[in-house]
Amino acid sequence: MKKNAGNEKTTILIVEDDPGLSELIAITLRGHGWDTAEAFSGEEALAMSRERRPRLILLDYSLPDMSGADFIAAAERTNIALPPFIVATGRGDERIAVDMMKRGARDYIVKDTQFLNVLTIAVERVLEQLDVERKLEETRQLLREHDEALLASREELRALADRLLVVPEQERTRIAREIHDQVAQDLIRLKLDLVWLNGQLAKSAPPAVVLKERVAEMIALTDGAINCVQKIATELRPAVLDSLGLCAAVEWQCREFQERYGIVCRAKIPQKDPTVDRDRATALFRILQESLNNIRRHAAATLVEVCLRSDGDGLSLTVTDNGKGFSSATLKDPLSIGLIGMRERAALLGGVADIRSEKGRGTTVEVRLPQKIKAPTGEAPS
Ligand SMILES: Nc1ncnc2c1ncn2[C@@H]1O[C@H](COP(=O)(O)OP(=O)(O)OP(=O)(O)O)[C@@H](O)[C@H]1O
Ligand SMILES: [Mg+2]
Repeated sequence: MKKNAGNEKTTILIVEDDPGLSELIAITLRGHGWDTAEAFSGEEALAMSRERRPRLILLDYSLPDMSGADFIAAAERTNIALPPFIVATGRGDERIAVDMMKRGARDYIVKDTQFLNVLTIAVERVLEQLDVERKLEETRQLLREHDEALLASREELRALADRLLVVPEQERTRIAREIHDQVAQDLIRLKLDLVWLNGQLAKSAPPAVVLKERVAEMIALTDGAINCVQKIATELRPAVLDSLGLCAAVEWQCREFQERYGIVCRAKIPQKDPTVDRDRATALFRILQESLNNIRRHAAATLVEVCLRSDGDGLSLTVTDNGKGFSSATLKDPLSIGLIGMRERAALLGGVADIRSEKGRGTTVEVRLPQKIKAPTGEAPS
């Protein structure tokens, strides 16, 4: 606590006209690890405040050329930004001390027999206070930046949502990917920062309570935005799925993936198109897309095998890559939104998504959806 965040030594400017006392104060403060500078008059102190930019001033009220009050007035007049200061007054000068506190002094010390002891305690306390204030200011700045980022994301979302009303069907898939890859990523990064900030604030002094509430609000807001993004992405139905059916869509997706990214992608699909309702087809297709996206972005794989099966029990889709895999910690990470999304999609339809991975041994995503129990009115198969 005796040093600045920048690891520079904290300089305290001692303004005291008695050279003997000034030296004693300097020795005491240096003994506590602080750096000192000394000024013996008000004028000298003003010049040193400007040149040396001390972190704190210890100001004797009665200087030969001016009083403490005059010193502050002179600084204001000459546009010198004074650092925080502590005033030292003579015994019985409490009224002066109170007046100086009103003028911005952080503390006052009476020059009595306990002077040197009280002095170091006061300096320590004020420096700690300054440290907390600095951290709070940094946090406020971060919050301001996050506010702006959040606003920008919402603007982006609104612009995309507007476009959705008029874009042709085949554009939807591309936009869905854009939303997922860009907007959702930004929001998730933002949320990570906010969660970090929340953790930092939990460790700080009482003034941070208001900020903590603010961060909690921002996290809720970000969650809302993430939900919104995911909803938009879900609502965007890939045109290829509608026009060609699930089997053809899977084959098309694999072919496109292989052509675009140069990663061999083999598709094994049933001879006969299975009867798949709209929700299941969408879920399987989305999981395939998310798996391929992950492979493209994270796996460094050279081969992907996609297998779609249909039997009496239901439908299954397996996506296997020979890439670098990942640890089980990632699987449990609440921030693995993509992986969580796959499991949730399957669970919503009464199925399961089993994700298996091992570092250096590739990854397998296996989704099983049960056969739909047809309602009496029956949904038309795609
Ligand atoms: N096939 C894969 N091969 C290697 N690592 C993977 C694979 N799939 C996922 N991962 C790892 O698991 C993490 C979590 O995946 P997840 O899909 O949840 O998030 P993401 O892809 O990083 O971001 P998002 O999907 O939300 O855009 C990834 O960051 C990556 O480290
Ligand atoms: Mg992902």
